[in-house]
Amino acid sequence: MFSPLPLRRKLKLSDGQILPFSDSRTPSPVHTAPVHLTKRGWRFATCLVTLLCVAGVMLLRAISGQLRLELGVVQSHSSLPPLYEAYRSREENLPHYEEYARRTDIKYLWSENFARSAGWGNIMQDFMMMALLAHATNRSHVFNDYVWDPNRGPYSDFNGKVIPSRIPLTAIVGGPMVGGDLPPEDTTPRAVSSSFFHEVCPNPTIINVKDVNTDDMVYGDVPASSVLKTWIKKIDSIDDPCVKLAGDNPPIFEVWIYGDKKRMLTIWPYLSKTPVMTHWRWSPLVVDALKSNLRLFTSTSWFYPLVSDTQESDAPDMIPGLLAIHVRRGDFANHCRHLATWSSDWNAFNSFPQFTDKFEVPSDVGWGETTPENRAMYERRCYPSIDQIVEKVSQVRSDARGSLKYLYIMTNGAMEWVDELKQAVQRATSGSQPWDSIASSRDLKLTWEQKYVAQSVDMYIAERAQVLIGNGWSSLTSNVNALRMVKKFSPDSARFW
Ligand SMILES: *[C@@H]1O[C@H](CO)[C@@H](O)[C@H](O)[C@H]1NC(C)=O
Repeated sequence: MFSPLPLRRKLKLSDGQILPFSDSRTPSPVHTAPVHLTKRGWRFATCLVTLLCVAGVMLLRAISGQLRLELGVVQSHSSLPPLYEAYRSREENLPHYEEYARRTDIKYLWSENFARSAGWGNIMQDFMMMALLAHATNRSHVFNDYVWDPNRGPYSDFNGKVIPSRIPLTAIVGGPMVGGDLPPEDTTPRAVSSSFFHEVCPNPTIINVKDVNTDDMVYGDVPASSVLKTWIKKIDSIDDPCVKLAGDNPPIFEVWIYGDKKRMLTIWPYLSKTPVMTHWRWSPLVVDALKSNLRLFTSTSWFYPLVSDTQESDAPDMIPGLLAIHVRRGDFANHCRHLATWSSDWNAFNSFPQFTDKFEVPSDVGWGETTPENRAMYERRCYPSIDQIVEKVSQVRSDARGSLKYLYIMTNGAMEWVDELKQAVQRATSGSQPWDSIASSRDLKLTWEQKYVAQSVDMYIAERAQVLIGNGWSSLTSNVNALRMVKKFSPDSARFW
């Protein structure tokens, strides 16, 4: 059996391993012999150290200034976003392609109508469903880039910021979704890239989603499990090894069904067992980002107990003591108001019946209208104020009986607002144990390539936190909860505003 990605070894961290607490970054206690100096001796020593420091800084400045001059061209060039060429070329040459190109029994399913031009949460849920359908029909799942802007060159624009128009999926995700190992007994063909699909399938059978999806399947109350079965039947009826869903069509599963827990949760018995979920991996790039930021979520003391207090979960890679909270700001100010107006329900995988915090769509307000009470209720649960966040965090922390020590704030909020929030949370602990660390998405040290996939780094952190407080309407929270449920985290560990 060959390894699909040369970097696969690095995925070990998510392979059910205990965190590398002996990470070389963790400072170890240093034992120094006591030094006795006279007053004059001290003054002299202080002067000497200060002088050395000043000289050191000056030297460093001089060197880096020289370097900056020499690298001037390179620097201005590298201020453009990365294009992940190494990932691209690796995914165009996965080890199984050669064999697949020779074999005639491999079947493929490509969803050319794949989700795009949206946040990663929305895209990821579509990719999960399409990988499920491919697996259920014994076809190779054809994976796509994460595309922000299909009509631009390599770069496009997000709120005035230059970003890559597309990111190769292997820079974000690992595992079966992008051609990685399937469980040993699984005979389904592995995933391939869309350009490999073009090579082996120049003339695929094309299916129009609109011909199969009825209005009831899209807007009505047909359960997601029935939609899946309809599609399995449709695809299984085709002999052609090459099938694609027409690109100018809507996705099979549209927003309406994801936002309807009754319909969507019926897919769980299928989704929770499909390898793309049971063997979910993040890319080595994402996994490395967590590794190099571990200091934010783990104790630096050698004497700190490494065992978690919650034993009911058998999720092996939980980061004990970590509380992750998902606080959407920015565009969510308007979005939450919009959700109130249309009495929107939570995203499906935020609504498992086993979860402690629930949401019922208010039945006393009409569709398209709202009351001040209704709007306030939506705001508290969707766009909570600092006071409301502090209150919830304190409550969840006391529910965990003192076992939560590190707080990680996943947010797109402004720096000053995040600082205010951090201070308020720490202030609220007066009398009880202060947090060992409070960090936010803004505090992650990321490489240039990691910066543009930072949302996935946040998701990976949240996926391994002891407890997560999420936003019920967010697909990012919902996907993380789906992964946590597959990994058998205790349902009590999923909380909501
Ligand atoms: C799935 O397809 C592969 C060939 O691509 C075949 O070897 C295998 O037997 C098939 N599995 C099932 C369950 O039909």
